[in-house]
Amino acid sequence: MKLTLKIWRQEDANAKGKMVTYPIDGIEGDMSFLEMLDVLNEGLVAKGEEPVEFDHDCREGICGTCSLQINGEPHGPDRLVTTCQLHMRKFNDGDTIVIEPFRAKAFPVIKDLVVDRTSFDRIQQAGGYVSVNTSGNTIDANSIPVNKHDADESFNAATCIGCGACVAACKNASAMLFTSAKVSQYALLPQGQVEATERVQNMVRQMDLEGFGNCSNTGACEIECPKGISLENIARMNREYMSATSKG
Ligand code: SF4
Ligand code: FES
Repeated sequence: MKLTLKIWRQEDANAKGKMVTYPIDGIEGDMSFLEMLDVLNEGLVAKGEEPVEFDHDCREGICGTCSLQINGEPHGPDRLVTTCQLHMRKFNDGDTIVIEPFRAKAFPVIKDLVVDRTSFDRIQQAGGYVSVNTSGNTIDANSIPVNKHDADESFNAATCIGCGACVAACKNASAMLFTSAKVSQYALLPQGQVEATERVQNMVRQMDLEGFGNCSNTGACEIECPKGISLENIARMNREYMSATSKG
């Protein structure tokens, strides 16, 4: 395949970025999107040009590091896949592909296609954990019954990989889908009840402090989420928040 890539280039966080056009040839349908960028970068390095910076790690849909806005969609045109799992067979010979970083005030660009998503880490640190006694008196997890439905829903929420596509898809750059997944995975389990009140209040407070927008129920986040995280988690987080607030 011959393609035309239009890629956001930005020297550093303070520089003014711009779109740069790169023609590319010899791309196979079986290549992943990131392998296609590797081919581009090998060519740029061979010419003595600066390679395009982009985030990646596991390249198998687990880590949540890869994060490209491809033709206006987070993780590109496929559904329920991350950018590293997107294959070039989803594109046609002669296509023009526009590649940008995830755009959100709370995800400032560091360089080219790399954005700073440590705001997600800070939301997680505000309450996305359970405190467990590891002094030797730990209760065996299997001794606490959890019904199958709640266990499954909790597991589904826990599959959120923190990629930020939900924020990039949202016209308000809301982080409600991410935060609600992290709240839900504990809210559904007995082990999560001890710190439930502080958890939801602290995580929502941190989410607001980071500058994410509010949810207006358009559902773009759910459509673009590579892990199929459901909007039901946002409803659950709102209920948890209301309940926590009424307790003071
Ligand atoms: S909710 Fe989905 S889109 Fe948002 S961070 Fe988690 S996995 Fe990514
Ligand atoms: S590189 Fe890990 S999910 Fe894409």
